[in-house]
Order: sequence, then C-alpha cells, then structure tokens
Amino acid sequence: MDRVYDDERLAGAHEQGNEMPEQSLLAWVELIASHVRRPSASLVEIGAGTGMFSAAMARWIEGSDVLAVDPSEAMLTEARRHHPHPAVRYVSGSAEAVPAPDGTFDLALLSRVIHHIPERPLAVRELARVLRPRGRVIVRTTFRERLDAVVYDYWPRLRAHDARRFPSEAEVVADFTSAGFAVAEVTSFAQPVTASLGEYHARLVERPQSKFAHLTPEEFREGLERLEAAVRGVDADQSRPVLERYDVAVFSRP
Ligand SMILES: C[S@@+](CC[C@H](N)C(=O)[O-])C[C@H]1O[C@@H](n2cnc3c(N)ncnc32)[C@H](O)[C@@H]1O
Repeated sequence: MDRVYDDERLAGAHEQGNEMPEQSLLAWVELIASHVRRPSASLVEIGAGTGMFSAAMARWIEGSDVLAVDPSEAMLTEARRHHPHPAVRYVSGSAEAVPAPDGTFDLALLSRVIHHIPERPLAVRELARVLRPRGRVIVRTTFRERLDAVVYDYWPRLRAHDARRFPSEAEVVADFTSAGFAVAEVTSFAQPVTASLGEYHARLVERPQSKFAHLTPEEFREGLERLEAAVRGVDADQSRPVLERYDVAVFSRP
C-alpha cells in the first residue's frame, strides 16, 4: 500500500491545494449522481482523502449516506476537520479491505486513487463484495495514455514519473471485466480547478500532491519559477480559469 499520505505535512497541504470551485464540484457530483439508481443510496468513497467528494455527495445526492474510507489517519483527521457532515462516516480502511458487510453499497467512487493501489485485482474483488447487485464503481483518474495535466507544462519530469504509476484504460478495464463487471461508460470530463493561473500557482506552492515528493527541492523550485514567469506573462484582463480533465470509467456489477 502507498503510505505517502501518512505524512502530516502532505495531509495538511492536500485540502487547500486540491479544493475546487463550488460549481465544478457540483458538476462532478451531478455526473456521479447520474449513476445512482436508487433513492436514499448508500455510497462509499475509497481513498476519500480529505473528504471533499464524500461531503459533496452527501450534500447534493438527496438522502444518501457515505462511508469515506482511507488508510491514512493523517488524511482522515483533515477530512473530519474540513468536511464534517452528518451523513458521512470517515473510517480507516483500504481498497483491499473495506470495513463493510457484503452487498452494502449502491455506488463506489475511487477518485485519484487507482494508481495508489498495488493489488488492483484484489481491490476489484473487494468492490464486488461490498456492492449490491447492479451497483456501480466510478473510477476518476487519468489513464496513462492521456497524461496531459497542466502541471506537466511546468514540471515536465513528472509526466514520465506518472507514466510509471498510472494504469492504462485497458489495464483497468481488464481488471474489472475479469471480476465480472460490465463497462457502463468511459468518458472524459473537464472542469475549472482555479479561476486563474495565479491562483493555480498559489495552490501548488505547498506541494499538495504526492507526485511532488519525487522531485528534488531544486527541481520543484525550477518548476515554480517557470510557473511564476507564466503568471507574469498573463494580462490580468485575459486571465482564464485553469481546467483539469479527468478520465471517468464506470463499471456495473452483475
Ligand atoms: C490523491 S488522494 C485522493 C483524495 C480524494 N479521493 C480526492 O480525489 O480528492 C489519494 C488518497 O488515496 C489514499 N490511498 C492510498 N492507498 C490506498 C489504498 N490502497 N486504498 C484506499 N486508499 C488509498 C491515500 O491515503 C490518499 O488519501
């Protein structure tokens, strides 16, 4: 298991460095909600991190309750602090060992977590166990063949690094279909994450993602300088939101 998120500095920086505008979060929750088939649904977020999606699902998917699972106590502490919600329970666990009985959930969300799971087939079997029949899994990630995030414009070495960590679409589809899941949908979805490049810079200063741990302090500083130069080059009146695109693969349990 990837224990990088046990680091309290990273857990503390994660919340501020990964939040998104309310409208973007709502758009994501609407996409997730379109795969919820029952009123008062039971949802699970695997690798819930600091809880942004878990709390948003509880807030906007009417009548739902959410089990938010993460192996990192440091992340769970931040989640309970920043995103408490009466319908969300933050608990210790992992994709490979979800603390719930068989057939509990209507939908599981794995957002930006699939690349952290070393034993994907084991995790997929565990998802099949905890989902109800016809329950759905939503994998929100960037598949290896489509690594095109804005961050690589400033830290190009991270792309090669991520290419070693992130699975391809074919690999993930094979893991799920081997366990009996059907592919319901594979799509891409882009939403603004910050209102401007300046705001984007501000959120990255604290190295809020695990990938930055793989850069030397010098490499990180050089990338930040490239980003600062780009911010200076943008006229205030031409400032545009920064978009982040994710792949979304949805699987349906038999
Ligand atoms: C990039 S964060 C994503 C947080 C949140 N889902 C989001 O999209 O903002 C990745 C999270 O996955 C968790 N994680 C790492 N290995 C895991 C595993 N084997 N099972 C479940 N979660 C895991 C980490 O502790 C971390 O909180």
